Amino acid sequence: MKPLAVDLCCGLGGWTEGLLAAGYRVVGYDIEAHAYGDERYPGELRLADILTLDGSQFAGAALIVASPPCQDYSYMAMPWAKAKAKAKAIRADETGAELEKLNRLFNACFRIQREASAAAGRHIPLVVENVRGAQPWVGRAAWNYGSFYLWGDVPALMPITFRAESSKAPGRVHLSDGAPHTARLSNPAEGIKNPGFRFEGSKRSFQSESVRQHNSASRGSRKAAAAKVAKIPFPLSHWIGRAYLPPACICPTECDCQEPDGNPALVSEECPVHNYRPEFTPDCPVHDPEPTR
Ligand SMILES: C[S@@+](CC[C@H](N)C(=O)[O-])C[C@H]1O[C@@H](n2cnc3c(N)ncnc32)[C@H](O)[C@@H]1O
Repeated sequence: MKPLAVDLCCGLGGWTEGLLAAGYRVVGYDIEAHAYGDERYPGELRLADILTLDGSQFAGAALIVASPPCQDYSYMAMPWAKAKAKAKAIRADETGAELEKLNRLFNACFRIQREASAAAGRHIPLVVENVRGAQPWVGRAAWNYGSFYLWGDVPALMPITFRAESSKAPGRVHLSDGAPHTARLSNPAEGIKNPGFRFEGSKRSFQSESVRQHNSASRGSRKAAAAKVAKIPFPLSHWIGRAYLPPACICPTECDCQEPDGNPALVSEECPVHNYRPEFTPDCPVHDPEPTR
C-alpha cells in the first residue's frame, strides 16, 4: 500500500502531482472542484471546508501539505492606501479577533496536523505554502522557492531557485521580461506565484498580470488562469514528497474498508491495514529501487 499524503486546499493539485510522482496515494480537500478544460485535480478529491475537518481522520497519513488562500496577505502587501488601511485596522484590533479571522485557514492547517499527530501517536509532518506577504501575519517562513513561501516542517535540504521577486515594482512579477529567470525552467511560471491575483476569479483582481497573459475578459478564463498560476511547481512538490517518503514501508495489501460515503477509508480503528505504521524495510517493492534515506 502506498503511503498516504493529504493535500489541504488542493486547487488544481500542484502539490499532489509531485506527491503522486514520489509514490504517495494523495487525497485532496478543497471547498470547490477546479476543472478547466483538461486540467483538473489529479488525486482523490473530497469537497470540504478545511475549517470543518477533524484532523484525527488523518492519523494514517505520512505527510500533510497545504496551500491556504493568499489573497488577503498579498493585498495587504500592496502599496495602496486601502491595502494599508486594512492592515492597520487588523493591527489596531486589540482583541486579536481580526488577526484570528485573517489567519483562520492558515491556522486550521496546523490544528489539523496537531489532531492527526495526536491520533497517530507520532509527529505527522506538515508543509504549508503561502506568499511572502503572509510573513508579517503568521511569522517568518522557513524557506522560499521563488515566490512560494513555506512554513512548518520544511526539510533541512531544499532546492534553490532563481530570485523570482527581483522585479521592478514591489509585489509585481514581470513574466514578460523575466526570460533570464525562467529560461532554464520547463514551465515559465515555475517558481513564480503571481501575488495578489484573486483565486476566485472575480473581476476585482488587484494584480492584472495573469489577466494580460491569458488575454481574456471572461470570468471562467480568469479563474482558470488564477488556478494555474497558483499551482505549486512540480520540482518543489516532488522534492518535499521524496524527503518525507518513508524510505521503505511494510506494504500490506489493500483492504476494503469504506467510509459511509463509499470512499475508501483513510483510517479505521478496526482495520489493521489502515492502522499500519510505516516502518523501514530494506526490500520494499514500492519504495525501492530509490530509497531516499
Ligand atoms: C492557492 S489555491 C491552492 C493551489 C494548489 N496548492 C495548487 O497547487 O494548485 C487555494 C485553494 O484553496 C481553496 N479554498 C479556499 N477556501 C477553502 C476552504 N475553506 N476549505 C478548503 N479549500 C479552500 C480554493 O478553492 C483554492 O483551490
